[in-house]
Amino acid sequence: MTTPPPIDTSVPHSARVWNYWLGGKDNYPADRALGDLILKDFPEMVDVARAQRTFLLRAVTHLAGEAGIDQFLDLGTGLPTHNNTHEIAQSVNPAARVVYVDNDPLVLAHARALLTGTEQGATDYVDADVHDPEVVLEAASRTLDLTRPVGLTMLGILGHHTHERAVSLVRSYTERLPTGSFLAVADSTDTSEGMRRAAEAWNADAPLPYILRSPEQIGEYFAGLELVEPGVVPALEWRSSQIDVGGTLPTAADEYCGMGRKA
Ligand SMILES: C[S@@+](CC[C@H](N)C(=O)[O-])C[C@H]1O[C@@H](n2cnc3c(N)ncnc32)[C@H](O)[C@@H]1O
Repeated sequence: MTTPPPIDTSVPHSARVWNYWLGGKDNYPADRALGDLILKDFPEMVDVARAQRTFLLRAVTHLAGEAGIDQFLDLGTGLPTHNNTHEIAQSVNPAARVVYVDNDPLVLAHARALLTGTEQGATDYVDADVHDPEVVLEAASRTLDLTRPVGLTMLGILGHHTHERAVSLVRSYTERLPTGSFLAVADSTDTSEGMRRAAEAWNADAPLPYILRSPEQIGEYFAGLELVEPGVVPALEWRSSQIDVGGTLPTAADEYCGMGRKA
Protein backbone atom coordinates (compact mmCIF):
# COMPACT_ATOMS: atom_id res chain seq x y z
CA MET A 1 0.00 0.00 0.00
CA THR A 2 1.44 3.44 -0.92
CA THR A 3 1.75 6.35 1.55
CA PRO A 4 -1.31 8.58 1.10
CA PRO A 5 -0.84 12.30 0.32
CA PRO A 6 -1.36 14.78 3.20
CA ILE A 7 -5.02 15.43 3.99
CA ASP A 8 -6.46 18.96 4.20
CA THR A 9 -8.74 19.24 7.23
CA SER A 10 -9.57 22.91 6.65
CA VAL A 11 -12.09 22.27 3.84
CA PRO A 12 -15.16 20.03 4.10
CA HIS A 13 -14.64 16.56 2.79
CA SER A 14 -17.52 14.42 1.49
CA ALA A 15 -16.56 11.18 3.25
CA ARG A 16 -16.01 13.01 6.55
CA VAL A 17 -19.33 14.90 6.36
CA TRP A 18 -21.05 11.57 5.63
CA ASN A 19 -19.19 10.09 8.62
CA TYR A 20 -20.48 13.01 10.77
CA TRP A 21 -24.10 12.36 9.73
CA LEU A 22 -23.64 8.68 10.58
CA GLY A 23 -22.52 9.63 14.10
CA GLY A 24 -18.81 8.83 13.46
CA LYS A 25 -15.77 10.55 14.92
CA ASP A 26 -13.58 10.87 11.80
CA ASN A 27 -14.50 14.47 11.00
CA TYR A 28 -13.23 18.02 11.59
CA PRO A 29 -14.83 21.46 12.25
CA ALA A 30 -15.06 22.26 8.50
CA ASP A 31 -16.94 18.97 7.92
CA ARG A 32 -19.29 19.54 10.84
CA ALA A 33 -19.96 23.12 9.67
CA LEU A 34 -21.18 21.94 6.24
CA GLY A 35 -22.96 18.95 7.80
CA ASP A 36 -24.79 21.24 10.24
CA LEU A 37 -25.61 23.81 7.56
CA ILE A 38 -27.44 21.11 5.61
CA LEU A 39 -29.06 19.61 8.73
CA LYS A 40 -30.39 23.04 9.75
CA ASP A 41 -32.59 23.15 6.68
CA PHE A 42 -33.00 19.39 6.23
CA PRO A 43 -32.53 17.40 9.46
CA GLU A 44 -33.77 14.30 7.60
CA MET A 45 -30.32 14.04 5.95
CA VAL A 46 -29.26 11.88 8.90
CA ASP A 47 -32.07 9.45 7.99
CA VAL A 48 -30.84 9.33 4.38
CA ALA A 49 -27.34 8.30 5.53
CA ARG A 50 -28.78 5.71 7.92
CA ALA A 51 -31.12 4.36 5.21
CA GLN A 52 -28.13 3.67 2.97
CA ARG A 53 -26.24 1.78 5.68
CA THR A 54 -29.41 -0.12 6.61
CA PHE A 55 -29.73 -1.31 3.02
CA LEU A 56 -26.05 -2.37 3.05
CA LEU A 57 -26.72 -4.42 6.17
CA ARG A 58 -29.79 -6.12 4.71
CA ALA A 59 -28.36 -6.58 1.22
CA VAL A 60 -25.10 -8.20 2.37
CA THR A 61 -26.93 -10.32 4.97
CA HIS A 62 -29.23 -11.59 2.22
CA LEU A 63 -26.39 -12.21 -0.24
CA ALA A 64 -24.08 -13.97 2.25
CA GLY A 65 -26.97 -16.04 3.62
CA GLU A 66 -29.94 -16.93 1.41
CA ALA A 67 -28.17 -16.18 -1.90
CA GLY A 68 -24.99 -18.12 -0.97
CA ILE A 69 -22.54 -15.42 -2.10
CA ASP A 70 -19.16 -15.71 -0.36
CA GLN A 71 -17.17 -12.99 -2.13
CA PHE A 72 -17.90 -9.27 -2.37
CA LEU A 73 -16.57 -6.30 -4.30
CA ASP A 74 -17.48 -3.03 -2.54
CA LEU A 75 -17.00 -0.06 -4.91
CA GLY A 76 -16.93 3.38 -3.21
CA THR A 77 -16.14 2.19 0.29
CA GLY A 78 -16.17 5.49 2.20
CA LEU A 79 -14.73 5.77 5.69
CA PRO A 80 -14.93 2.71 7.90
CA THR A 81 -17.96 2.86 10.16
CA HIS A 82 -20.15 0.53 12.16
CA ASN A 83 -21.07 -2.65 10.23
CA ASN A 84 -18.65 -2.54 7.32
CA THR A 85 -19.27 -4.94 4.43
CA HIS A 86 -16.74 -7.57 5.58
CA GLU A 87 -18.13 -7.53 9.13
CA ILE A 88 -21.68 -8.11 7.87
CA ALA A 89 -20.67 -10.82 5.39
CA GLN A 90 -18.33 -12.63 7.77
CA SER A 91 -20.89 -12.57 10.58
CA VAL A 92 -23.07 -14.70 8.28
CA ASN A 93 -20.26 -16.69 6.64
CA PRO A 94 -16.85 -16.40 8.38
CA ALA A 95 -15.13 -17.56 5.17
CA ALA A 96 -16.48 -14.63 3.11
CA ARG A 97 -13.89 -12.61 1.17
CA VAL A 98 -14.28 -8.87 0.58
CA VAL A 99 -12.40 -6.37 -1.59
CA TYR A 100 -12.96 -2.65 -1.00
CA VAL A 101 -12.24 -0.04 -3.69
CA ASP A 102 -12.04 3.74 -3.34
CA ASN A 103 -9.86 6.46 -4.87
CA ASP A 104 -9.94 8.94 -2.00
CA PRO A 105 -6.65 9.39 -0.12
CA LEU A 106 -8.57 9.89 3.12
CA VAL A 107 -10.27 6.51 2.75
CA LEU A 108 -6.89 4.95 1.97
CA ALA A 109 -5.52 6.48 5.18
CA HIS A 110 -8.27 4.74 7.16
CA ALA A 111 -8.22 1.49 5.20
CA ARG A 112 -6.29 -0.44 7.83
CA ALA A 113 -9.49 -0.55 9.90
CA LEU A 114 -11.12 -2.45 7.04
CA LEU A 115 -8.46 -5.10 6.81
CA THR A 116 -9.32 -6.91 9.99
CA GLY A 117 -11.45 -9.94 9.37
CA THR A 118 -12.00 -13.51 10.36
CA GLU A 119 -9.18 -16.04 10.06
CA GLN A 120 -11.12 -18.09 7.52
CA GLY A 121 -12.11 -15.09 5.39
CA ALA A 122 -10.04 -12.33 3.77
CA THR A 123 -10.32 -8.61 3.08
CA ASP A 124 -8.30 -6.33 0.84
CA TYR A 125 -8.35 -2.66 -0.07
CA VAL A 126 -7.66 -1.39 -3.59
CA ASP A 127 -6.77 2.28 -4.07
CA ALA A 128 -8.15 2.84 -7.59
CA ASP A 129 -10.62 4.76 -9.70
CA VAL A 130 -13.64 2.55 -10.34
CA HIS A 131 -13.76 3.84 -13.90
CA ASP A 132 -10.91 1.52 -14.66
CA PRO A 133 -12.61 -1.90 -14.29
CA GLU A 134 -9.67 -3.81 -15.79
CA VAL A 135 -7.30 -2.44 -13.13
CA VAL A 136 -9.87 -2.89 -10.32
CA LEU A 137 -10.73 -6.48 -11.30
CA GLU A 138 -7.09 -7.44 -11.80
CA ALA A 139 -6.32 -6.17 -8.26
CA ALA A 140 -9.49 -7.79 -6.85
CA SER A 141 -8.49 -11.14 -8.36
CA ARG A 142 -5.68 -11.37 -5.80
CA THR A 143 -8.41 -12.01 -3.21
CA LEU A 144 -11.54 -13.05 -5.13
CA ASP A 145 -12.06 -15.90 -7.58
CA LEU A 146 -13.63 -13.97 -10.44
CA THR A 147 -14.74 -17.14 -12.22
CA ARG A 148 -17.30 -17.60 -9.40
CA PRO A 149 -20.30 -15.33 -8.55
CA VAL A 150 -19.53 -12.05 -6.80
CA GLY A 151 -21.74 -9.65 -4.82
CA LEU A 152 -21.02 -6.20 -6.27
CA THR A 153 -22.08 -3.31 -4.02
CA MET A 154 -22.25 0.31 -5.25
CA LEU A 155 -23.81 2.34 -2.47
CA GLY A 156 -23.75 6.13 -2.59
CA ILE A 157 -21.12 6.19 -5.33
CA LEU A 158 -23.11 6.44 -8.56
CA GLY A 159 -24.59 9.83 -7.60
CA HIS A 160 -21.07 11.25 -7.74
CA HIS A 161 -21.22 10.78 -11.51
CA THR A 162 -23.67 11.75 -14.27
CA HIS A 163 -26.45 9.22 -14.77
CA GLU A 164 -25.19 8.26 -18.25
CA ARG A 165 -21.67 7.67 -16.92
CA ALA A 166 -23.06 5.72 -13.95
CA VAL A 167 -25.13 3.42 -16.23
CA SER A 168 -22.06 2.61 -18.33
CA LEU A 169 -19.94 2.17 -15.19
CA VAL A 170 -22.38 -0.41 -13.79
CA ARG A 171 -22.45 -2.18 -17.15
CA SER A 172 -18.64 -2.29 -17.34
CA TYR A 173 -18.63 -4.45 -14.18
CA THR A 174 -21.73 -6.58 -14.66
CA GLU A 175 -20.62 -7.63 -18.13
CA ARG A 176 -17.23 -8.77 -16.77
CA LEU A 177 -18.55 -10.67 -13.72
CA PRO A 178 -19.73 -14.29 -14.05
CA THR A 179 -23.33 -15.48 -14.26
CA GLY A 180 -24.89 -15.75 -10.81
CA SER A 181 -23.26 -12.48 -9.63
CA PHE A 182 -25.40 -9.84 -7.93
CA LEU A 183 -25.45 -6.05 -8.12
CA ALA A 184 -26.70 -3.95 -5.16
CA VAL A 185 -27.18 -0.19 -5.63
CA ALA A 186 -28.48 2.58 -3.38
CA ASP A 187 -28.43 6.34 -3.96
CA SER A 188 -30.18 9.44 -2.76
CA THR A 189 -33.24 10.53 -4.69
CA ASP A 190 -34.88 13.79 -5.78
CA THR A 191 -38.06 12.72 -3.97
CA SER A 192 -38.57 15.76 -1.72
CA GLU A 193 -38.06 19.50 -1.89
CA GLY A 194 -35.88 19.37 1.25
CA MET A 195 -33.56 16.78 -0.30
CA ARG A 196 -33.25 18.80 -3.50
CA ARG A 197 -32.23 21.87 -1.45
CA ALA A 198 -29.77 19.75 0.58
CA ALA A 199 -28.11 18.54 -2.64
CA GLU A 200 -27.80 22.14 -3.85
CA ALA A 201 -26.14 23.18 -0.57
CA TRP A 202 -23.82 20.17 -0.79
CA ASN A 203 -22.80 20.92 -4.36
CA ALA A 204 -22.11 24.57 -3.51
CA ASP A 205 -19.51 23.58 -0.93
CA ALA A 206 -18.29 19.97 -1.20
CA PRO A 207 -15.46 19.14 -3.63
CA LEU A 208 -17.14 15.93 -4.89
CA PRO A 209 -20.57 16.82 -6.35
CA TYR A 210 -23.59 14.57 -5.84
CA ILE A 211 -26.39 14.36 -8.40
CA LEU A 212 -29.73 13.12 -7.05
CA ARG A 213 -31.49 10.40 -9.03
CA SER A 214 -35.14 9.65 -9.65
CA PRO A 215 -36.32 6.18 -8.53
CA GLU A 216 -36.79 5.34 -12.25
CA GLN A 217 -33.13 6.14 -12.94
CA ILE A 218 -32.09 3.78 -10.14
CA GLY A 219 -34.16 1.08 -11.86
CA GLU A 220 -32.15 1.62 -15.06
CA TYR A 221 -29.01 0.23 -13.42
CA PHE A 222 -30.65 -3.21 -13.38
CA ALA A 223 -31.50 -3.42 -17.10
CA GLY A 224 -30.48 -6.88 -18.33
CA LEU A 225 -30.40 -8.33 -14.79
CA GLU A 226 -33.09 -10.28 -12.91
CA LEU A 227 -34.47 -7.86 -10.34
CA VAL A 228 -34.52 -9.42 -6.87
CA GLU A 229 -37.75 -9.00 -4.83
CA PRO A 230 -39.04 -6.46 -3.79
CA GLY A 231 -37.54 -4.54 -6.74
CA VAL A 232 -36.50 -0.89 -6.65
CA VAL A 233 -37.92 0.54 -3.43
CA PRO A 234 -37.13 3.09 -0.70
CA ALA A 235 -33.94 1.83 0.99
CA LEU A 236 -35.57 1.48 4.41
CA GLU A 237 -38.24 -0.83 2.98
CA TRP A 238 -36.00 -3.37 1.23
CA ARG A 239 -36.72 -6.77 2.89
CA SER A 240 -37.50 -4.89 6.11
CA SER A 241 -39.96 -7.52 7.29
CA GLN A 242 -37.59 -10.44 6.53
CA ILE A 243 -34.26 -9.06 7.86
CA ASP A 244 -34.40 -7.54 11.32
CA VAL A 245 -31.49 -5.18 11.88
CA GLY A 246 -32.49 -4.16 15.42
CA GLY A 247 -32.67 -0.66 16.86
CA THR A 248 -35.06 2.13 15.98
CA LEU A 249 -34.95 3.10 12.33
CA PRO A 250 -36.36 6.17 10.59
CA THR A 251 -39.61 5.45 8.77
CA ALA A 252 -38.77 7.23 5.50
CA ALA A 253 -35.81 8.73 3.65
CA ASP A 254 -35.02 10.07 0.16
CA GLU A 255 -32.93 7.04 -0.71
CA TYR A 256 -33.85 4.21 -3.12
CA CYS A 257 -32.17 0.89 -3.70
CA GLY A 258 -32.35 -2.35 -5.59
CA MET A 259 -30.62 -5.65 -6.24
CA GLY A 260 -30.24 -7.58 -9.49
CA ARG A 261 -28.84 -10.99 -10.45
CA LYS A 262 -26.93 -11.77 -13.61
CA ALA A 263 -28.77 -14.74 -15.15
C1 LIG B 1 -21.00 8.65 -0.03
S1 LIG B 1 -19.56 7.64 0.01
C2 LIG B 1 -20.40 6.10 0.22
C3 LIG B 1 -19.74 5.22 1.24
C4 LIG B 1 -20.36 3.88 1.50
N1 LIG B 1 -20.48 3.08 0.29
C5 LIG B 1 -21.69 4.00 2.21
O1 LIG B 1 -22.68 3.52 1.65
O2 LIG B 1 -21.77 4.53 3.32
C6 LIG B 1 -19.05 7.53 -1.72
C7 LIG B 1 -17.63 7.01 -1.91
O3 LIG B 1 -17.40 6.77 -3.31
C8 LIG B 1 -16.06 7.11 -3.59
N2 LIG B 1 -15.90 7.37 -5.03
C9 LIG B 1 -16.54 8.30 -5.78
N3 LIG B 1 -16.10 8.25 -7.06
C10 LIG B 1 -15.16 7.27 -7.12
C11 LIG B 1 -14.34 6.75 -8.16
N4 LIG B 1 -14.42 7.25 -9.41
N5 LIG B 1 -13.49 5.73 -7.87
C12 LIG B 1 -13.41 5.23 -6.60
N6 LIG B 1 -14.17 5.68 -5.57
C13 LIG B 1 -15.02 6.69 -5.83
C14 LIG B 1 -15.80 8.34 -2.75
O4 LIG B 1 -14.42 8.57 -2.56
C15 LIG B 1 -16.55 8.01 -1.46
O5 LIG B 1 -15.70 7.44 -0.49
